[in-house]
Amino acid sequence: MAKAILLLHGPNLNLLGLREPDVYGRVTLDQINQWATIHARQRGVELRAEQSNHEGALIDMLHVARNWADGVVMNPGAYTHTSIALRDAVAAISLPVVEVHLSNVHARESFRHTSMIAPVCVGQISGFGWRSYLLGIDALLGHLGLLPNPD
Ligand code: DQA
Repeated sequence: MAKAILLLHGPNLNLLGLREPDVYGRVTLDQINQWATIHARQRGVELRAEQSNHEGALIDMLHVARNWADGVVMNPGAYTHTSIALRDAVAAISLPVVEVHLSNVHARESFRHTSMIAPVCVGQISGFGWRSYLLGIDALLGHLGLLPNPD
């Protein structure tokens, strides 16, 4: 069966392009989803993108992903720093999850230096703007053994 991944965006990311462009850039969420879909398709993988501003809705989407996805690339937004419930959902679904951030959270306010989610993820990518998502997809596909080796 063809491989499929979930690209999940958390709160306020629907406003990308308008929201604090000096921090998050001028690219919209629709553009990121389009580029991410193409990027995954070029690697033979289907990508479905979802966004919610609600913690419970994000958790529901992770639970449903168990039934169809091989892994998840997730930008949990501010829930990164606060949500034990989202962390427990990631731990519960036993799918590989890669955490991504547009900004370099470690170079910002100290409350952004801690991620509740990262310890239960495969890894974290932070600070590369919209390209963080494409790097996150490759990190996930590499983890799943779906990228060619350099040799
Ligand atoms: C973010 C970083 C978070 O600290 C912030 O709350 C966001 C966006 C990022 O992509 O850089 O909403 O996840």
